[in-house]
Amino acid sequence: MFMQPVMDYPNTLNTTYPSRNHDFTKEKVAKMSAVVEEKIRHFKASPTVGIICGSGLGEVTKAVKEAVTIAYKDIPGFPRSTVQGHAGQFVIGYINEVLVVCMQGRFHFYEGYDIGTCCMPIKLLKLLGCHSLIISNAAGGLNPKFNVGDIMVIHDHINLMGFSGNGPLVGPNDEAWGPRFLSMHNAYSPAYIKEARDLLRKKNLPDHVGVYTALGGPQFETVAELRLLQAQGVDAVGMSTVHEVVMARYLGLRVFSFSLITNKCPTTYEADKNVNHQEVIDTGREKAQVLVDFVRDMVPVINSVRD
Ligand code: HPA
Repeated sequence: MFMQPVMDYPNTLNTTYPSRNHDFTKEKVAKMSAVVEEKIRHFKASPTVGIICGSGLGEVTKAVKEAVTIAYKDIPGFPRSTVQGHAGQFVIGYINEVLVVCMQGRFHFYEGYDIGTCCMPIKLLKLLGCHSLIISNAAGGLNPKFNVGDIMVIHDHINLMGFSGNGPLVGPNDEAWGPRFLSMHNAYSPAYIKEARDLLRKKNLPDHVGVYTALGGPQFETVAELRLLQAQGVDAVGMSTVHEVVMARYLGLRVFSFSLITNKCPTTYEADKNVNHQEVIDTGREKAQVLVDFVRDMVPVINSVRD
């Protein structure tokens, strides 16, 4: 169990931690994973790769064979997805002979969930047996070389929300899940990055690699904010992923992550077109087949390649 902070002045004890991570004990999450395990017992194996499908990227589940679908609402204690373009269910089955768990719909800070709750499903994926995680997202492109519809393999992030203490690991730590202090060095597995870029080139697609950052949202960024991010070396911006990567690494999962560039970020006031959620969804739909193929080809790599 975790240790409570010891304080001389109990009245100042912060009992409303910014992250509810510590609430999701092994015992509690095991109850949720038992509901899932019950429905996938016939596979006679544990899933090894988790896949988080980003906004408009839920079509990836079309690659799943012998699919079993479990709605989040049927798992007691599990949060609900409230965003258009997010179905809110697990889809479990085979992709390229590998047993995978897809999360069709994730939880965002802007929905009102604390950052620990946003990451809680990753604990469930860990208990189900996953050793690796594919995290996808829709993102705005800041790197001028990126076009709408391109894939950017993420090789690093800037945890802007975490800078101010809004991180999933803030609060009491349970060593049974992971360490108090976590290294984020090479959090995105270099071996996966290399394989993904090789694959993109083989498909005659751009093999972009870059730095991702997430803001709390739900509002899109101002021109001044985008210029600031660009000047700091950010290639793509979204509203997810970063804290999920922190949680995945904390739990010892290997991470592969990529963005679908759904729009170009307007970094001038003259830009005639601003970002909207429909554009994000539409680009996801247009590129659905490319993403399905990409993920299908990456899954065996994720399942077997090691650094
Ligand atoms: N900004 C933030 N999040 C996003 C964007 C964007 O431009 N596009 C898709 N998700």
